[in-house]
Amino acid sequence: MTEPESSFLTLGIESSCDDSAVALLRGRRSVIAELLASQTESHAPFGGVVPEFAARQHLEAFLPLMEEVFRRGALSDPAKEIGLIAVTAGPGLMGSLLVGVMAAKALAMAWNVPLIAVNHLEGHMFANIVSFPDLEPPFLCMIVSGGHTEIVLAKDYGKYEFLGGTRDDAAGEAYDKVGKVLGLPYPGGPVIDRLANAGNPRAFDFPVPMKGNREVSFSFSGLKTAAVTEIARLRKENAEIPLEDVCASFQRAVVESLVGKLSLAVKMTGVTSVALSGGVAANSALRRELQKKKDWKVYLPPASRCTDNAVMIAAAGYSAFRRGVRSSLDLSPDPSWTLW
Ligand code: KG4
Ligand code: ZN
Repeated sequence: MTEPESSFLTLGIESSCDDSAVALLRGRRSVIAELLASQTESHAPFGGVVPEFAARQHLEAFLPLMEEVFRRGALSDPAKEIGLIAVTAGPGLMGSLLVGVMAAKALAMAWNVPLIAVNHLEGHMFANIVSFPDLEPPFLCMIVSGGHTEIVLAKDYGKYEFLGGTRDDAAGEAYDKVGKVLGLPYPGGPVIDRLANAGNPRAFDFPVPMKGNREVSFSFSGLKTAAVTEIARLRKENAEIPLEDVCASFQRAVVESLVGKLSLAVKMTGVTSVALSGGVAANSALRRELQKKKDWKVYLPPASRCTDNAVMIAAAGYSAFRRGVRSSLDLSPDPSWTLW
């Protein structure tokens, strides 16, 4: 029996890295309003996120974002209409997290509304719960972004088992590094993805990390080094760099590794519902490969839900609230908070 949608309103706040995001969620998955201020362009000249600069931009972004979300949600008295404030408290950059957490605490105190600290990675899992009404635990979730590459088994709401993650770089980090060495704009991931579609994935024999090893674990630093070394060799020989082929070959190895380890996780757990989240989940080759898995039920959220957003934080917070979780107003962010 599906339960009736609640009219309960949750305010979600996300500021773990370089996106300031605010959302209003009604019940489990009805998005009333959401806004996001991305800092990607302002960090681009530095080739990566500059933590101090990120925190300062969050500080400037949040008040106008909130006012606009309340306006779009047609809230006449947010203090009375909002029943819960859910905020990302980690993992992430300390300065960035602090801005969102302080804003959430101030509002919770002023409005006398409950507060929930949400783990950013649990939030990423909820990007799927929000997007797909038919998705229920147990399911596998691969979170693959600039900071994380891991596979988690969601046994139930709030009950997770970590199956494995990266031993070194995250997949997105490797994409961005190879992009930088190729002289592509930041972030490299989406650009490499686009160029790869016009290239030959077998042009370079880049190794598939951890292939054949019977563990759910990833490693992208060796692959990154192999690509960077090959680019340096071509440059030294004054050879023209076949951008599309390098991108396609690099992407082939990344995608083969991600899909291979997901297949292993499916075999180990017997769970065939497979969800994706994180920026790299937007990757076109990864999506194509997963869509070929006819024995699995694959959940691929839209790109805007894969990347950082406040809807997923509100959804994870509301779920925790219904399970009786509450956070105190003493809450401090934890940049290395691990949930599993
Ligand atoms: O989840 P996200 O927005 O931020 C965090 O890292 O938390 O992920 C950003 C990462 C970047 O490394 C970016 O290059 C990568 O996701 N990315 C992609 C694609 N779109 C974004 N990587 C490969 N293919 C894409 N289409
Ligand atoms: Zn994220």
